[in-house]
Amino acid sequence: MAEALQQLILDTLDKHSKIHDTRQLIIPGQQEPAASQDAQIIILGALNSLLSREMILYESHEVLSNVLTPEGEQIAKDGSHEARVWAALPLKGEGSAVNAVQLKKLVGDETAKVGQGRAFKSGWIGKEGDGFVKLIPTITDATQLDLQEVGSSGTHKSGEKLLADLRKRKLVTQKKGQWFTVTKGSSFSTSTAKPETDLTVEMLTSGSWKTSTYKKYNFEAEGTPTNGGALHPLLKVREEIRNIFLEMGFAEMPTSSFVESGFWCFDALFVPQQHPARDLQDTFYLSDPKNSLHPEKEYYKRVSTVHEHGGFGSIGYRAPWSHEESTKLLLRTHTTASSAHMLYKLAAKCRGEKVDDESGEYTHAGSKTGATEQDDGFRPAKLFSIDRVFRNETMDATHLAEFHQVEGVVADRGLTLADLLGFMRVFFNKMGIEKVRFKPAYNPYTEPSMEIFAFHPLLDRWVEVGNSGMFRPEMLEPMGFPKDVRVHGWGLSLERPTMIRYGINNIRTLVGHKVPIESIENAAAVMF
Ligand code: PHE
Repeated sequence: MAEALQQLILDTLDKHSKIHDTRQLIIPGQQEPAASQDAQIIILGALNSLLSREMILYESHEVLSNVLTPEGEQIAKDGSHEARVWAALPLKGEGSAVNAVQLKKLVGDETAKVGQGRAFKSGWIGKEGDGFVKLIPTITDATQLDLQEVGSSGTHKSGEKLLADLRKRKLVTQKKGQWFTVTKGSSFSTSTAKPETDLTVEMLTSGSWKTSTYKKYNFEAEGTPTNGGALHPLLKVREEIRNIFLEMGFAEMPTSSFVESGFWCFDALFVPQQHPARDLQDTFYLSDPKNSLHPEKEYYKRVSTVHEHGGFGSIGYRAPWSHEESTKLLLRTHTTASSAHMLYKLAAKCRGEKVDDESGEYTHAGSKTGATEQDDGFRPAKLFSIDRVFRNETMDATHLAEFHQVEGVVADRGLTLADLLGFMRVFFNKMGIEKVRFKPAYNPYTEPSMEIFAFHPLLDRWVEVGNSGMFRPEMLEPMGFPKDVRVHGWGLSLERPTMIRYGINNIRTLVGHKVPIESIENAAAVMF
């Protein structure tokens, strides 16, 4: 119906270029013009649909239209009271008269009361004995016809006088109504086909794009709301940990080189060249280029010597040194490779090198011993980094081949293990971990070494959170540090505290393509 009506409007416009009064339209399926308000409401629906496609324009006009009251409706349907009285009676001479009591039964009290007098007045019925009979065989029920006309057209051709009379009789009331004039719109066409919203390959190949009608862009539309950016939980935790280091007076190390040589990742740290961590199964090696440039000659010599033959109070590993192994390029397996670079740089003055960078960016003025700078050029430092490392791990719910390490390094004269323990207690306390325990462990580059355990109240058990130790003289002395300089460090993963913090038990819901974007957007800020 809706389609047919729209089509009618378009066809009428096509023929006459204007519809002066929509009350003149004959809605498909109806016989009479659409003069009633109900019909105009149906037409308005069709007009709005065509207007939204800019196929037409319309103007609305207000009228007071006449509508039937419920009584008026009934008369339009069943006839006037007087006609119903007349119809209930036998024609004079053709049957026995109907008395008043019988009439009430036949047509109802109300109709009998009102209709009887009027029928009399009109000469339709008469008395016979104590009853009533029809005087004429046919009547014209003008009231019914008038109401039918008003009901379908909202007005009457006899004019206002008759309408006023019907209103007085409470058969008709006035209601505000609308009608419309319609003209062609900018996209006028007689086709009601839905306008295209997309230009498709099919339309281009078939050529139908030339004749299609297109939906206009709606620049007023609000569009789908865009979300603001959201920090990944790892970045939030990273920031928190970063702040803890900064408030403890640490400086951030540059850690941008993911690719390191075996020399910096292992040799400089006194990791034996045969150590299993260096195996292909544990470390990603580069195939092109395969090898690094030659490390600085003197330092390289000291490192290779301490490995092969010992020195600085050590007997070394006493295994043949492989230059090839040392220059192999790899993806760093720990950020301690970056720490090694920084420590080597920190010891430059101790090696008697002229240092350009006097800014002291990475060194710390407040030494434990109070000595800021001695003749040997050493300056204490507190350094940290939080960055990515790579390990050839079998991936499972808690392991990926790449993750982030948090690492702190402190260099000063005469540091003891107690200093390291104290530092870590403060550090983990700031992260909200109050109960920490340390367990002796082994690292090739630290002695002593300790694993760090934290009590996890939700899991109700101790979980390993990190690794730590005092760097060995075999590592520090070849760099050029004076003998009384101690360096300690600790490292932990960024993922573990993040997973604990956000209650995530599968790392794939934290990192990678399966991460639900809502979990990122909804992740609360961390507050250790
Ligand atoms: N590099 C160690 C690791 O990967 C962490 C560590 C850093 C240990 C510094 C001791 C000193 O677990």
